[in-house]
Amino acid sequence: MAVFIDGLLQRMTIEEKIGQLNLLAGYEDIITGEPHSSIIGTKIQEGRVGAILNVRSLEKIREMQRVAVEESRLGIPLLFGLDVIHGYKTVFPIPLALAASFDMELIQESARIAAIEATADGLCWNFSPMVDITRDPRWGRIAEGPGEDAYLASRIAEAFVRGYQGDDLTLNNTMMACVKHFALYGAAEAGLDYNTTDMSRIRMYNEYFPPFLAAIRAGVGSIMTAFNEVDGIPASGNKWLMTEVLRNQWGFDGFIVTDYTAINEMIDHGMGDLQTVAALALNAGVDLDMVGEGFLTTLGKSINEGLVSHEQLDKACRRILEAKYKLGLFDDPYRYINPERAEKEIFTEAHNRMAREMAAQTFVLLKNENQVLPLSKKGKIALIGPLADSQQNMAGTWSVAVDHSQSVTVLNAFREAVGNHAQILYARGSNIVDNPDLDLRTAVRGQPTVDLHRTPRQMREEAIAIARQSDVIVAVMGEPAEMSGESASRTDIGLPGSQQELLKALLKTGKPIVLVLFTGRPLTLTWEQENLNAILNVWFGGTQSGNAIADVIFGEVNPSGKLPSTFPQNVGQIPLFYNHKNTGRPLPDGKWFRKFRANYLDVTNDPLYPFGFGLSYSDFAYGDPLVNKTNLQGNEELSVSISLTNFGTRDGAEVVQFYIRDLVGSITRPVKELKGFQKVFLKAGESQEVTFYVTPEDLKFYNYFLEFDWEPGEFDIMVGGNSRDVKTIRIDWQK
Ligand code: BGC
Repeated sequence: MAVFIDGLLQRMTIEEKIGQLNLLAGYEDIITGEPHSSIIGTKIQEGRVGAILNVRSLEKIREMQRVAVEESRLGIPLLFGLDVIHGYKTVFPIPLALAASFDMELIQESARIAAIEATADGLCWNFSPMVDITRDPRWGRIAEGPGEDAYLASRIAEAFVRGYQGDDLTLNNTMMACVKHFALYGAAEAGLDYNTTDMSRIRMYNEYFPPFLAAIRAGVGSIMTAFNEVDGIPASGNKWLMTEVLRNQWGFDGFIVTDYTAINEMIDHGMGDLQTVAALALNAGVDLDMVGEGFLTTLGKSINEGLVSHEQLDKACRRILEAKYKLGLFDDPYRYINPERAEKEIFTEAHNRMAREMAAQTFVLLKNENQVLPLSKKGKIALIGPLADSQQNMAGTWSVAVDHSQSVTVLNAFREAVGNHAQILYARGSNIVDNPDLDLRTAVRGQPTVDLHRTPRQMREEAIAIARQSDVIVAVMGEPAEMSGESASRTDIGLPGSQQELLKALLKTGKPIVLVLFTGRPLTLTWEQENLNAILNVWFGGTQSGNAIADVIFGEVNPSGKLPSTFPQNVGQIPLFYNHKNTGRPLPDGKWFRKFRANYLDVTNDPLYPFGFGLSYSDFAYGDPLVNKTNLQGNEELSVSISLTNFGTRDGAEVVQFYIRDLVGSITRPVKELKGFQKVFLKAGESQEVTFYVTPEDLKFYNYFLEFDWEPGEFDIMVGGNSRDVKTIRIDWQK
């Protein structure tokens, strides 16, 4: 590769090298023949484009590639990238939901299928996985990420990268992954998208960086910068982040792309004019400029003026060429362009079956009083709510290739599931939100959803009427798909008011209520938890949402998802996360208010649902943890076993979680940290021993001097079905 690329670089002009660093959005059509009538066609021909994003047509991709290869002077092929965040045409659950499966094989498989479909449509580069840790559910992009925990996020990062890239990037059904957004994007102040972040390096290294490092170790080919600033310098111009951390400390040898127009945005950040910020970005370590053309329009001048060096330009250009080489594009620029594959391998029956199975694995049962769930297929079921019959809101945010008309609604799925054994009575019952302006801000593709022909009261009455005739109410409610995702921050994270009112009215009928909750973020559900009989959180399950929901509601599938993110009691508790520090004035266990202790006057410190929480139709009992030793030395291995029993009447899976607390450190340590998990399937009545192994590697953390090491002393070893309810054993480990 090196010889080939050296040769190519020698033949390139400065303009051609700069051209390789330009990533353009390819929305517009390119007209064939000469002269090119489209701007993009001309640019490709002139060698002023290195890569294209956002094209979803094999024909357009073929034509653009043809112009690059046949009509540009050096014939360098283009990279084609897209946000294939949770599936392509076959849409899988949103990433936060996938995280709730705690099933890394499933995540890898979803990424594998996404890559098969996307590459069959000509794409070779994916802007995924997004692994931004966040503890702030006000931030809409929590939906796109792995939740709050660095360990879980790291395993997820690896699974996605392996799924997309496979073992061989040159195959025509694998694609290059791009881990994003480096760094700290999820720590945006006040949960406001794009906002400033500011945190200690200890926290960055221990809590926010690990999934990026895990992606690099798994071989990720590219990394995307973040929009926000880090330590007073926007991430896209931050040399410490890109050169010191990524390159020097972690040895990353892929390429770095900015986020969308992030170089230009440094002007508004207050870093200087376009020429200044573009030079800053290149010198800091950016290789590819997304959409803003800051590199294309200013780097030539900056080279002449000595603001950037030839060497720096060559480095960036080399990395882009290397990526193309690794993907096999120099051998065959058309390797991803195959209409037969597009015909046969996209949105297949098999993929849809997988999507249905996967979605059911991501649902989290939050409450199930008196085992109201699963429902039996008999009598009359009132299916009520503005999301019960809404194809647009099944796939969830960032499903850029979805065809909504293929999404299965809950109503259709329920009708099919019960056949003529039960009767499904349906009413919409309320608007998603009553405020038309808010509706437009959150509606998919800006299509209004407020019912202009009926008042909220009329809708409610219709719903109450069918509820009265029914044996049980299934309320299908929550956020619409675009109430989370990019630029979708909220300050109030409750169920929208219109839907709460409907629930209150339904409650008065005295019928049992099961809430099927759609959401892209943790919501504040204190009232719902107190008043409703069952709550099944289904996030956004993708194209097969409806079927998967029916599978779980009627008991074909036993729910096993666990929360990857804490659900607070109210917004004022945010940020609330399980692996917090103890403080010098912790509240004793089981107490609420104590003067001069760390607590609130008006609400307990507890979450509504802790990290790792999720019920099942089965009941699982944990035995006491047993260790091979309680005093260990040096590189010994600790083994921790517990017996797990399913004493319910149904087969089911449980995510056994393993936490460690380092009791004394040279810096303060979290009250617990997830260090392992196993999803165990047990038949009704079955028991199994579950074992975790620990070595000093698992005890390491970044200390005050950012050295990664472990410290001897006592450790609490905890095992349980969520981060709150654990069984503990103490051990001592000396160096
Ligand atoms: C998002 C990225 C995405 C990019 C390209 C940006 O607005 O922040 O996550 O990959 O657009 O679509």
